Amino acid sequence: AVAPIQPSKLTSIKKLSESPNLNSIPSNYAYYNDPHEICASEPQDSIPTIDISLLTSGYPDHKSKAIQDLNKACEEWGFFMVINHGIPESLMKAMLDVTSEFFNLPEEEKPKFELKDVLEPIRYGTSFNTAKEKVFCWRDFLKVFVHPEFHCPHKPNALRELLLEYSERTQNLVSKLVRGISESLGLEEYEMEKTLNLNSSLQIFVANYYPPCPQPQLALGMPPHSDHGLFTLLIQNQVGGLQIQHKGEWLNVNALPNSILVNTGDHLEIFSNGKYKSVLHRAAVNNKNTRISIAMANGPSQDTIVCPASKLVDNEGCVPAYIPMKYTEYLFSQQNNLLNGKSSLDRVKIKDN
Ligand code: SIN
Ligand code: FE2
Repeated sequence: AVAPIQPSKLTSIKKLSESPNLNSIPSNYAYYNDPHEICASEPQDSIPTIDISLLTSGYPDHKSKAIQDLNKACEEWGFFMVINHGIPESLMKAMLDVTSEFFNLPEEEKPKFELKDVLEPIRYGTSFNTAKEKVFCWRDFLKVFVHPEFHCPHKPNALRELLLEYSERTQNLVSKLVRGISESLGLEEYEMEKTLNLNSSLQIFVANYYPPCPQPQLALGMPPHSDHGLFTLLIQNQVGGLQIQHKGEWLNVNALPNSILVNTGDHLEIFSNGKYKSVLHRAAVNNKNTRISIAMANGPSQDTIVCPASKLVDNEGCVPAYIPMKYTEYLFSQQNNLLNGKSSLDRVKIKDN
């Protein structure tokens, strides 16, 4: 590793990665002291796949099979792929293309690269939280709040229409998942969306750009963390890099073509009173190809004070394992700290019960 970059000289990782003769990374991008094994193993038992069309086909036995599958996937993995999800392949491809176009705009045409309030509806930046970090991630990002209010950067021109459609269609998919999950928890189908006010759910479009890194075994695109919301839906260009933790081991995720990857977040863990744990994941980088991923983070409404579902803690012997907190406060604190495992969730966890 070469000399660290002074925080005042920080640029986009795209620009840094394009510097001539970059053979090693600045020392403050070295997440590991020694090369870590980025070739995590391939899943032994394969990642669960959920056929979304079964949830709404109208056949009760299809639906109960899908709900059982969801229960198992959330309980044992916190991670699954969805197929027959109703989102056109062409739209997913167009979203990845327009995202690539965004990151390739001249810097002066992107939103200002500055340390804004973490709840600003449009935020372009590098790493995760450069105001707090000592070690940076090999990543640039664009975060846009797209629901309940739709925001969008001005450029590229094609972004607005595509993002609006992608946001609507992914919300539709999330509704189906939420109804299935609600039943899988033994609750009424619409109970979860009612309790969490999901008609005004917060949805954030998070675009990630990971250019080639000369020392991929020292750096990370994103360190191990869990997501703040209920579910995150992820698509990526042809380049892999997402790894999830399963039974204490890091696994590479190889998505089926046209599938969407889903991971459970901290607020599903809270709402389910710990039945469905949020899953740890990280992004590895490589020295050959730029990886682009698009995560749609879906949470409760910002004003909702979230606590474990009352029916899950009414019974004798079942006590709430998490303290109530307004989602927006949780989000603010998560985004304002270091991205570090499940440290945000630990702050609301009730010990000793
Ligand atoms: C994320 O954790 O939000 C992104 C991970 C990825 O790029 O695969
Ligand atoms: Fe994540």
